[in-house]
Amino acid sequence: MSIAYLNGEYLPLDQARISPLDRGFLFGDGIYEYIPSYDGKLVGFSLHIERLKRGLDSLKIDLPWSLEQWREIFDELIKRNGAGNQSLYLHISRGADTKRDHAYPKGIKPTVFILVSKIDPPQIADPELAHTFKVSSKQDLRWDRCHIKSTALLGNVMHKQSSVEDGCDEALLYNEKEEITEGASSNIVVVKDGKMATPLLDHHVLPGITRYILFDIVGKYSKRLFEERVVTLAEARDADEIWVTASSKDLVPVVELDGKPLGDGKPGPVWQEVMALYSEHRFDY
Ligand code: PDD
Repeated sequence: MSIAYLNGEYLPLDQARISPLDRGFLFGDGIYEYIPSYDGKLVGFSLHIERLKRGLDSLKIDLPWSLEQWREIFDELIKRNGAGNQSLYLHISRGADTKRDHAYPKGIKPTVFILVSKIDPPQIADPELAHTFKVSSKQDLRWDRCHIKSTALLGNVMHKQSSVEDGCDEALLYNEKEEITEGASSNIVVVKDGKMATPLLDHHVLPGITRYILFDIVGKYSKRLFEERVVTLAEARDADEIWVTASSKDLVPVVELDGKPLGDGKPGPVWQEVMALYSEHRFDY
């Protein structure tokens, strides 16, 4: 049984309890983060905490913890769970009131929950061993605040489930203009003629930490062009490679889109090259 953190306590996961009046449970009124830790080394620690703070500010949840406070709890959790490869799932809700009321109540304490789970070793730049995805395209039917990493994920959950029912691993979401937004739980990169492109950040896209790190690494260590711009569904269908990026997945090459093999149906050469750079530099962040 893993050891979780809940409101100041370290305890076995099956002993963690919250009130049914917790607004995370009632309304999805909270913010979350997912941070991978490989052999005790976190990827993108301060980037994740900065995004968490922006999310809490946008929901007016008051939790002014410093980077050092978060770090101390993470180090303790990693130690208590025996290092190795683990994910830290942080879930901060507005907390529990004494009644159910949509408006933000005053004076309640946020609920802070951290779940630690064992995860696989990170993706490596080997087309034979790579973890690959099949994806199916779906019109993005979520809300207009996808830039907030809210725990209210029903739209994402429904898109993911629909792709699973298609026999796929992830949904490739597009807006009413047939422009790609992101995946149900990932960002998207499309590769054509050796050049990479990822959709611009707006209210329909989560500013992914993996996306950010990847973009920065390519800018520093590769001569290849990587653009942030509008990427259409037609471009995705015609792409040489598509990658799904997320902290829980690294860079996953897509081998099939809507039931058709993408490229030659194998992880592509640009993925292999950039995945090698990502493997080398992911812990710099
Ligand atoms: N999700 N877009 C969405 C909708 C996501 O849910 C995620 C990640 C991403 C990628 O963000 P990052 O690179 O910061 O992980 C993009 C996490 C992993 C999850 O829901 O578990």
